[in-house]
Amino acid sequence: MQREIIVEAPAKINLTLDILGKRADGYHELETVMHQISLVDRIHLFPRQAGIALDTDSSEIPHDADNLAYRAAQSLLDKYGCKAGIGIFIEKNIPVGAGLAGGSTDAAAVLLGIDYLLELGLEREILLDLAAGLGSDVPFCLAGMPLRQKSAGCLAVSGTTVLARGRGELMTPLPMVFLPHIVLVKPDFQLSTAEVYRGFRLEGVKEHPDTGSFVADWNQGNKQDIAGHMVNVLESVSITQKPEIGYLKESLLEMGALKALMSGSGPSVFGIYDNAEQAEAAVRLLKKDYREVFLVSSY
Ligand code: C5P
Repeated sequence: MQREIIVEAPAKINLTLDILGKRADGYHELETVMHQISLVDRIHLFPRQAGIALDTDSSEIPHDADNLAYRAAQSLLDKYGCKAGIGIFIEKNIPVGAGLAGGSTDAAAVLLGIDYLLELGLEREILLDLAAGLGSDVPFCLAGMPLRQKSAGCLAVSGTTVLARGRGELMTPLPMVFLPHIVLVKPDFQLSTAEVYRGFRLEGVKEHPDTGSFVADWNQGNKQDIAGHMVNVLESVSITQKPEIGYLKESLLEMGALKALMSGSGPSVFGIYDNAEQAEAAVRLLKKDYREVFLVSSY
């Protein structure tokens, strides 16, 4: 058995997000295109005699069962009666409470990493089932599995894009389209996903994405067309609560973005650029006002 592995856990952005209605279980029926980006947490996993221990370099995430990554380890070890313990160290780079699935991707990396480290050989369906029990975005974060060697001592999934429906767990993989210049900004506040969804009113939505057209454009790979079909209906809630999200979108457009959109329930906003110099200039300007500004690409 290996002593320690590192698993890269990429963030996601939502390129479209539509809500079709409210479900009997209280969740919302989604139709959303999710895309993994090159902003990653690094999850160190190592065997322990017994029990789960979680540590992190971040002051913003919990160390105990309040952390989804801890619960991921617990659910896997419990379900398969593993006697082994697991140590987890999270190098946190993805902003917290940001609409980037940072907690979900860490949890997914823990599931895949423990399966690998303890040589459990679990089937994809079993891991996806455990993932769906942890949170709506966790199955997506497993979509690019299995783990492969990315660099010395570091494992990773393949970057992926998926059309997700249901709570987010019914996934259709989309082809690889590489977006080379994505400017991502996390304003200095967090939004609670549950609260944003609670505030959602179908009649308050001015524009729904045409998801069919988005997917057709994605299959063609023309960035201008893709950008034209990017819409997120949760902006109707988040921008009303926090107008700064709207101002940030406008700034990105003024600085040359093909399109700017909020990711997930926010508050992160990203701009898609087809020009590296413009993207770099936008990052330089935004860094004057914001702590968390990233120039990333597709993962
Ligand atoms: O599944 P997860 O715990 O990540 O979801 C967080 C919250 O977001 C849920 O408690 C729910 O309020 C809301 N949500 C929803 N419909 C979805 C996904 C999430 O209402 N499809």
